[in-house]
Amino acid sequence: MLKIGGLTLGSQVMQSPMADCSDLPFRLVSRRRGLGFAFTEMISAQSLLHGSRKTLEVLKTTPEDRPLGAQLLGKDPAKLAEAAAMLADMGFDLIDLNCGCPVKKVVRNGEGAALLQAPDLAERIFAAMRRAIKLPLTVKTRIGFTDESGVEAVELGRRAEAQGFDAITVHGRTQKQGYSGLADYGAVALVRQAVAVPVIGNGDVRAPADALRLKQESGCHGVMVGRGGLGNPWLYREAERALAGCGGQPPAPDAAARCAAVLEHFDLEVQFQGERRAALNFRRIGAWYAAGLPGAKGLRIALCRTMDVRLMRRQLLEFFAALPEALPVPRPL
Ligand SMILES: Cc1cc2nc3c(=O)[nH]c(=O)nc-3n(C[C@H](O)[C@H](O)[C@H](O)COP(=O)(O)O)c2cc1C
Repeated sequence: MLKIGGLTLGSQVMQSPMADCSDLPFRLVSRRRGLGFAFTEMISAQSLLHGSRKTLEVLKTTPEDRPLGAQLLGKDPAKLAEAAAMLADMGFDLIDLNCGCPVKKVVRNGEGAALLQAPDLAERIFAAMRRAIKLPLTVKTRIGFTDESGVEAVELGRRAEAQGFDAITVHGRTQKQGYSGLADYGAVALVRQAVAVPVIGNGDVRAPADALRLKQESGCHGVMVGRGGLGNPWLYREAERALAGCGGQPPAPDAAARCAAVLEHFDLEVQFQGERRAALNFRRIGAWYAAGLPGAKGLRIALCRTMDVRLMRRQLLEFFAALPEALPVPRPL
């Protein structure tokens, strides 16, 4: 169980916001296999206020897709507050502020991870968002910009807490590291020791044992799974079991389970994203599910050669139905 402000979650494990990945079909497939709390992909406060069609698409959800958090990117306190109020009206359960995006264009614009180096502005944003809504508010950040010690995340976390934010998520890498190198759980621990609100640890959870190590080494209250969940919708429940003390690596999902998951994901993509986007998206998504399996390269090439969703579905079915019984555990890219 994890309590964030007035929101009580049944699980300590959640899915991270991931642009171009954590769309509605991805979330539904994961929830049906044990995911308890999910995030949409990040959206820009500015685009939301302008009523951008693409942004509204990203916020698409269904009653089954609950509880659900939305994540805002921005740097203007008044706009972020207004955007947060819009999201609250739309029925989201929690709003997160992105203080971790490392993308150059974003950072140059003073948003995302750049806020780690602008704590005064970040604090004004926290205060404005808090005044605007009653919903639980969280911030997702990194351990630092270039400084690996964790002190920048501690500073940001303290200021968020002082302004009434309800939890802090810390990805154990710096902006400079991007997505490479190993996440530093010791720096996550510093934030955990510095604030009284829940801290959610993030980075490199690709197997149930990683979730346990993150919790043990950082003392975090919750665990956020990012890339490890791509093509492995079983990981959230397995990680939850590991945190509950059920040891060992659970058996890998068998061929039938993988076939069912990948086809369900494909059908949901077609249903919610339309045939053209489903075909394009599944070039990546199909590769996540096939990673590490015999013949994966051939499937990837075949999926890239067609836009015909009926043919793609047949290719997926033939590949996954023909897998041997004993399979390695899913290994996301
Ligand atoms: C393709 C991709 C898109 C991402 N998009 C977001 C995002 O929109 N918002 C965010 O806070 N983090 C985003 N992240 C970062 C992840 O949420 C997560 O913090 C990071 O991948 C580290 O966790 P992991 O090692 O478990 O993947 C993204 C990561 C990837 C790989």
